[in-house]
Amino acid sequence: MSSGEGQLDVARVRGLFPGLSDGLVHADGPGGALVPESVVRAVSQAMRVPIAGRGGVFASSARAEQLVAGARSAVADLVGGAPGGVVLGPNMTTLTYAVARALAKHWRRGDEIVVSRLDHDANIRPWLQVADELGLVVRWAEVDIETGELPDWQYDELVTDRTRLVAVTAASSAIGTRPDVASIAERAHRVGALVVVDAAHAAPHAPLDVEELGADFLLLSAYKWCGPHVGALVAHPGLLEELWPDKLLPASERVPDRFETGAPPFELYAGVAASVDHLAALCLEATGTRRERLRTSMAAVSRYEEQLFTRLDGALRSMVHVQVLGDPAWTTPTLSFTVDRLRPRQAATELARSGVCAWDGDFYSRELFDAIGVNETGGAVRLGLMHYNTVEEVDRLVDAVAGLR
Ligand SMILES: Cc1ncc(COP(=O)(O)O)c(C=O)c1O
Repeated sequence: MSSGEGQLDVARVRGLFPGLSDGLVHADGPGGALVPESVVRAVSQAMRVPIAGRGGVFASSARAEQLVAGARSAVADLVGGAPGGVVLGPNMTTLTYAVARALAKHWRRGDEIVVSRLDHDANIRPWLQVADELGLVVRWAEVDIETGELPDWQYDELVTDRTRLVAVTAASSAIGTRPDVASIAERAHRVGALVVVDAAHAAPHAPLDVEELGADFLLLSAYKWCGPHVGALVAHPGLLEELWPDKLLPASERVPDRFETGAPPFELYAGVAASVDHLAALCLEATGTRRERLRTSMAAVSRYEEQLFTRLDGALRSMVHVQVLGDPAWTTPTLSFTVDRLRPRQAATELARSGVCAWDGDFYSRELFDAIGVNETGGAVRLGLMHYNTVEEVDRLVDAVAGLR
């Protein structure tokens, strides 16, 4: 089935989420999505049977191996990678620090890196800290404040033959923007630089393909796509072979295992696999392998969320007391806004009184919000839609924001 077909039956989808029974409008997805019952069940079932550590010769150890393999192959299917290139960890931030430290062993004073003002701090600070230690030159890709876009043409000048790394987000969890990562990656690869892509916010909203993006390292976080709190790093296994992270002496030297420190949360890995199965089954017309079903389902998710978002975005932009930050042409269903004469914390508190769950602050997009100039006044309020939100909920959001006058 082509990705052009298939629809989302949102009534059926909502029945999968026990958390929706509170009757609130959950517009806080970018900070962490709700979890379907299938994920809850997978985690609890994994804990009902004995699970030992990895590497033993008895059944409960074999079960642990299966849970690791199941999570790796699910994440690989989600992004079109190889299971042998999937590193699992506590969250995306921890994995970014691990890669940064491993790559730093290959860099010298005067080497250059490019980071972007659009990114979440998790794909900025680990690189800046390494740069500081080694004396690397840091170049910044800037955001067009009016549009909220990250123009790709600026990388023509930012990338030089001394560039070792370009770190860029596939989507901003603060203002939604989806930069043209493939075009940026192409510029980086021309000089042999590595490309690290933060796909934490993009993953729940559209089909992803690590090759199409041109990502040498793709960073993800399962709690953003309705899974448990587990992070993932996807790379070509051959590239991981070239890197030596800090590890304990007795821990495995194999790839990808050598990047995973300490005892893994096996039960959560069961939830990771179940969460990817959840995404793959969102569109009932989807057929074929899990990777094929994911492509069809995520394309249906993307179309569905776009419809809802167009309604939300249009309504908020027409309100005179509301300023939506940026106006990107290519976006995820996420926006941030400020309200005349109300601090974001006050606005979010009012929204909570109207039954809306919405975050306020900088959402760890500190650099972006400093550039826009909203941090002095408490940042912004963020609304993000997920595949379990409805058009009726969008109308409730619009009414609640209209009531902030
Ligand atoms: C775009 C983006 N990148 C990275 C992160 C950090 O992910 P984690 O909490 O798994 O470290 C987040 C979480 O808010 C995010 O939204």
